[in-house]
Formats: sequence, C-alpha cells, structure tokens
Amino acid sequence: MRRILVEYAEPGMINARAIHNSEGKVLLAAGTELNEFYINRLNELGIQSIYIRDEITGGLTIPETVSERTRVETIKIIRQAFTQLEDSRRINMVLIKNSVDKILDEVLSSSNALIHLVDIRTYDDYTFAHSVNVCILSLMTGISLSYNTQQLKELGIGALLHDIGKTKIPKEILDKPGCLTPAEFQEMQKHACYGFEILRHYPEIPLLSSHVALQHHERVDGSGYPRQIKGDEIHEYAKITAVTDVYDALLADRIYRPAFLPYKAIRELTRGTYTFFDPRVVAAFLENIALYPVGSLVQLNTGDVGIVVDVNKQSQHRPVIRMLLDRHGRKLPEGQEHDLDKMPTIYITKVFSEKTSDLILRNLKNGIKIDIEKLGQEANNALG
Ligand SMILES: [Fe+2]
Repeated sequence: MRRILVEYAEPGMINARAIHNSEGKVLLAAGTELNEFYINRLNELGIQSIYIRDEITGGLTIPETVSERTRVETIKIIRQAFTQLEDSRRINMVLIKNSVDKILDEVLSSSNALIHLVDIRTYDDYTFAHSVNVCILSLMTGISLSYNTQQLKELGIGALLHDIGKTKIPKEILDKPGCLTPAEFQEMQKHACYGFEILRHYPEIPLLSSHVALQHHERVDGSGYPRQIKGDEIHEYAKITAVTDVYDALLADRIYRPAFLPYKAIRELTRGTYTFFDPRVVAAFLENIALYPVGSLVQLNTGDVGIVVDVNKQSQHRPVIRMLLDRHGRKLPEGQEHDLDKMPTIYITKVFSEKTSDLILRNLKNGIKIDIEKLGQEANNALG
C-alpha cells in the first residue's frame, strides 16, 4: 500500500485502509474500489490523502503500533469526554484511564516497531484523533526514556487530555479557518489553564497529568505560554507532549496545507531543538519514528530510484529499498532489493513528494518514459 493525495485519486483505485469518523463509523471500508462519488465525499470531508493498494506496492504492509480498533475506540471515548464537558457534565475518567492502559499494553508489546502510518482524519475530528496520536507518540517516547509503569500512565493520561481545555474556548475561534487575531489568539492560549482547572478537580487524575495540560505549550527557552517557564521548570511529561503535539500537527492535513512528510516534520522539530524542545526528549522521540516510512519513494546516490519496503530500527537512515528505476529512468529487473544497512557506500540522497511519487509510479505502470534526472532535481534532499 502507499499514500496518495486525494487530488490524484482515480475511479478504480482500491482504498487500502478503513477511514472512520470520531463516532467510530466507517466512512470508507478497506478494499473499497473508488468511484467519483467516494472521491467527492473524501473531498467534502476534507480528507486530503488516503492509502491505496496497487500492483507495485501490493505486497507492502505498513506495520501498526496500536491496532485500528483501539485507536478508533479511544477517539470515540475522547469525543464523548469533550461533549460531556461542553454539556457541563463530568467526564467518565474510568473510561479514559482504561483507554490509556489499553494503548500502553499495545505500545509495550510492539516496542520494537517504528511509527509509519499517518492516520487519515476528517477536519471535524481533528482534535480527537490528534489527542490519541499524541498519547501514543508520548508513550513511545516515555518508554525510550525508561519510564516505569506509573510514570507511563501519568504521562499517557496527560497526553490524551492535553487539549481538554479547548472545550471552554468559543467554537468560532476554535473552528476559524483563517488566522486568529491577536485577541483571539490570546483567548485560544487560555486552553492550557482551562485544561489544568478542569483536570485538577478530578481526584482520580494524577496532578502531574493535569500539569501536562497546563504546560504543553511552554518552550524550553521561555517563549511559550501561559507562564513562560523555561528549562527544567517545565515538567518532562509536558516537554514530551510539546514535541509529540507539534509533530502530529505537522503530519495532519490542514485546510491551508497538506500534511508534511515525516522527514520534513522531523526537520522542523530538529530546528526547534534547544530553543523550543528539550534535546534529550527529541532524541528519545525520534528513536520511534520511521524517517522514511514503508512506501516512501527515494533516490540513492547511484541515481537509482526505489521504494522503501522495510526499515532498520537501529539505523533509520538506512532502510531496505526495492529498486524500481535506474538513473536514466529505465525499469530495473523485478525483485532487486538493497538493504542499505549492509551496503555502506550506498545512501539515500533524495525523497520524492507524494505528488512526484505518484507520477513516477503511474508512468512506470503504464510504461511511459520517466525523466528521473529532472524529477530528482525537484525532489527534497534527504536528511544528513
Ligand atoms: Fe494545546
């Protein structure tokens, strides 16, 4: 399977992963053949990319760290919690804590896996899916930092509920499509304090988890909010959630831009290390992210082009590549794979965007000549 932009989706393509809404309803089942109606519906829902199954990537399965079922179930529970607060009701914290336990169990049992998948979400469900992702990514980071079970649970609850204060922010500010005015931005920033206020009134919620809601927008150089605290004044749980919050936001499609590819989001995070983010936390986080996820199209220093089919957790810069084209754009014989971890002189130089990858794979399938030299010039340089 591979990820494509919906604008390049065509009738006849096969959807490879089920798409759910935050109520857990299936919007588009895995295995569904796309038609004009479904493609229009994806556009209406604001879904900009999907996973498809095709001949070239047919055998590729992208590993999941947390099962689709648990993810969908937790999104539903988080949505309920938001609705309960909006209706001035109490949140059922037992459900929240059980969800964190379930996610933690799954993350611990797949602790050797890297995060590859970018989940497909609708605009309306953004906050709920985002909360669950931040929880998963934060727990993986906590495991890399050798946290014990109690620490992981505290971190997981805080990460899952980090934006709960948004329930007190007026909808017209929360859902505003354009830029916020300074006054609106000031109002938006209050969600951190609101979140803390909400959570500290639940005796079953550890106080440190409430501090994640309060501190997740603080930055190590003191440039964050609400209190502009810096360095070790910020609790490590909040430093972790700051990193995972930004990373997941970059990986999501927004109205004003499509999602970043992982290596681009990683580049953004690395730029913010020391100023915004704690370097130890960023390093622990990056241990868990596939720099070039399965399905990425890359160019090697030989000029040849291939698709990532597997990763090496210990050396993420050096995945296993199935070779597709030589540097002149000629099709290579099938079945040739390079494990870069075992080939020290070969390395990735370029990563193709989803748009260019789609063009290359489509032309390859249809036997159309591909000008790799030209496309390679437009591609993005790999991370050094
Ligand atoms: Fe936030």
